[in-house]
Amino acid sequence: MHRYSLCVSLYLFFLFLVTISHGTICSSHDLINQTCEKCANQSVILSYSLCSTALPVVPVSHSTNLEGLAIIAMELALENVTNTLATVEKLLGDESLDKYVMGCLTDCLELYSDAIWRIVDSVDVFLSGNYEVSRIWMSSVMEAASTCQQGFEEKGEVSPLTEENYNLFQLCGIALCIIHLSTPVTANAIPF
Ligand SMILES: *[C@@H]1O[C@H](CO)[C@@H](O)[C@H](O)[C@H]1NC(C)=O
Ligand SMILES: *[C@@H]1O[C@H](CO)[C@@H](O)[C@H](O)[C@H]1NC(C)=O
Ligand SMILES: *[C@@H]1O[C@H](CO)[C@@H](O)[C@H](O)[C@H]1NC(C)=O
Repeated sequence: MHRYSLCVSLYLFFLFLVTISHGTICSSHDLINQTCEKCANQSVILSYSLCSTALPVVPVSHSTNLEGLAIIAMELALENVTNTLATVEKLLGDESLDKYVMGCLTDCLELYSDAIWRIVDSVDVFLSGNYEVSRIWMSSVMEAASTCQQGFEEKGEVSPLTEENYNLFQLCGIALCIIHLSTPVTANAIPF
């Protein structure tokens, strides 16, 4: 079993309970689409279709509010990065890969191991009401996904993690946007 899996699973279960306690029965599926539309409108890099298909996967997202959706987006990012770490570890065991690619994968392993704890911290500070710091952590995870991807591309290698990096980047961007929308003063534009 992957060494992070148990901890992360327990944490996700805890988040599930937190999300329920944040939920209200009056919001609906509409909230997801509206929120995704707002985020895609405000930022050219965010994908409406990824957002509107990813968020409803967590069943409780149908009966939650904006804060609940922010937690769900972070939860999805956490699941994503945990699965990706397992993929990276598997790839590192493939001896047919060239040295340069191996080096990049090792960098990604480090970036993503850090990212797990940054997302966990991000949720914690979000729950304590410090949305500003939560956004800083989530944007640092977006940067980690870009850095991982750029490592391969710098030498013209095809990244074996292109899809994973894209998904993580999007999920963190969506989380960042929803955290921003949850922030009481939302007059200023999202910072990307
Ligand atoms: C929300 O968007 C999804 C996919 O874009 C669509 O299938 C669904 O019908 C929409 N739901 C509502 C309530 O508009
Ligand atoms: C998004 O932008 C479109 C086109 O400019 C607009 O019609 C729509 O109302 C916007 N949606 C939201 C939720 O702001
Ligand atoms: C990452 O998240 C995306 C969007 O929710 C999902 O389609 C994809 O399967 C996830 N990938 C992994 C490796 O968990």
